[in-house]
Amino acid sequence: MAVAERNGSSIVIISRNCLFSLFLISTIFLLFSCFSVLRSTGFHHFVDTSSLTKSKPLTVIDNSRNNLQEEKEIIQKKDDAKCSKDNKLLLKVYMYDLSPEFHFGLLNWKPEGDSVWPDIKTNIPSYPGGLNLQHSIEYWLTLDLLASEVYAKREACSVIRVHNSSEADAIFVPFFSSLSYNRFSKRHPNEKKSQNKVLQEKLVKFVTSQEEWKRSGGKDHIVMAHHPNSLLDARMQLWPAMFILSDFGRYPSNVANLEKDVIAPYKHVIKSYANDASEFDSRPILLYFQGAIYRKDGGFARQELFYLLKDEKDVHFTFGSVQKNGIREASRGMHSSKFCLNIAGDTPSSNRLFDAIASHCVPVIISDEIELPYEDILDYSEFCIFVRTSDAVKEKFLINLIRSIKKEEWTRMHDRLKEIEHLFKFHYPSREGDAVQMIWQAITRKIPSIRRKIHKSRRFSRTVTHEEKELRSLSLPRNLW
Ligand SMILES: *[C@@H]1O[C@H](CO)[C@@H](O)[C@H](O)[C@H]1NC(C)=O
Repeated sequence: MAVAERNGSSIVIISRNCLFSLFLISTIFLLFSCFSVLRSTGFHHFVDTSSLTKSKPLTVIDNSRNNLQEEKEIIQKKDDAKCSKDNKLLLKVYMYDLSPEFHFGLLNWKPEGDSVWPDIKTNIPSYPGGLNLQHSIEYWLTLDLLASEVYAKREACSVIRVHNSSEADAIFVPFFSSLSYNRFSKRHPNEKKSQNKVLQEKLVKFVTSQEEWKRSGGKDHIVMAHHPNSLLDARMQLWPAMFILSDFGRYPSNVANLEKDVIAPYKHVIKSYANDASEFDSRPILLYFQGAIYRKDGGFARQELFYLLKDEKDVHFTFGSVQKNGIREASRGMHSSKFCLNIAGDTPSSNRLFDAIASHCVPVIISDEIELPYEDILDYSEFCIFVRTSDAVKEKFLINLIRSIKKEEWTRMHDRLKEIEHLFKFHYPSREGDAVQMIWQAITRKIPSIRRKIHKSRRFSRTVTHEEKELRSLSLPRNLW
């Protein structure tokens, strides 16, 4: 009896416990979901929603209806104060007035008077054509910054140049490093060092001695190095800065990484496919690839794939780089293909992906280390096929996969390509939602984490030891200390 009684009361206690835990768990869930909603609405402060409203909205991380009102208000506010300095949503950028030898001087522009910048109302120095253009990001961003002061009513404004660096969100280093690499990396017989090396040395000396650099340790600086071989020397000193890169292929992960850096698209060299009325059945080539055959590192997959695909009758696979008159031929080829291959070469990325997008040819990406522009707000799986290299080199794997994608699915991806292609186009003047705007917005999304890092680094600034100072002045990545 006593035993039964005891059991009875313990059952009551157990069920009370159960009820209490249930209550506790549901409360936690409720709090958690409130928190998530708050967080997702906060996110929109750092995304320029205006570029996302054209045609079908991009798949933004959060699509909940609660944000619509806020989005509208943001767009409204933006229209009111469109490109003015009072617009709190604009990225405010301070640009160093570097000597022209670092930027437009590399385009043979000569300064008149004492300004180091061209008067863009009357004269826009032009950029050399051909393959140089794929890395011309430095040129378009700099022009857009200059334009932000001249044209109050720009069609698109994600950024504005300010002259007081204390008011800036970021500090822009206008060195055209890719052009410097393309043009001046060969050492002339009477020179000790190439001009490209000399410029990098000068740049490091200048930038690291500036008040702005010392204030943040360089963390809020924007340094462009889109060509994988550009800035090879200076990057070891300028690594605390945010780099604008094409990929991380040639970088140690402590010098460049997704957390602090921004991946920008290549400028495509293939002709855009205007008024594309093509369909699945009107594009005769199933799969298209043109590129160099043998690449040093990581490019072995190209050769493997060539042997796997060379006997498929509707596959176009040729070796050779897309040079001058090759461009017209490659344009025609990509415009007539359903799928376009992007295989890692000696770097994980290449402009072929952006050529494929401009051709509305569904990209098939075989590059395990590739990083993609604006992937935090853009879902590439909607218009690209990704295949792991280890799978792609299996007998028949790739061709079976491609052949299994039927008209309906291909058409959906093709339509999506036409919707998003403008995100990868560079213009001057820049247009709403083009690559120039998208890159500034990607930079804007990094600003809160930069601020956090800067603030955190100041925690113990009163008690910095002599040793720490010494280490910092060596400017080595933290895990090399
Ligand atoms: C620059 O901005 C800071 C912060 O807003 C301000 O204190 C300072 O007076 C400004 N400097 C000049 C020269 O206007």
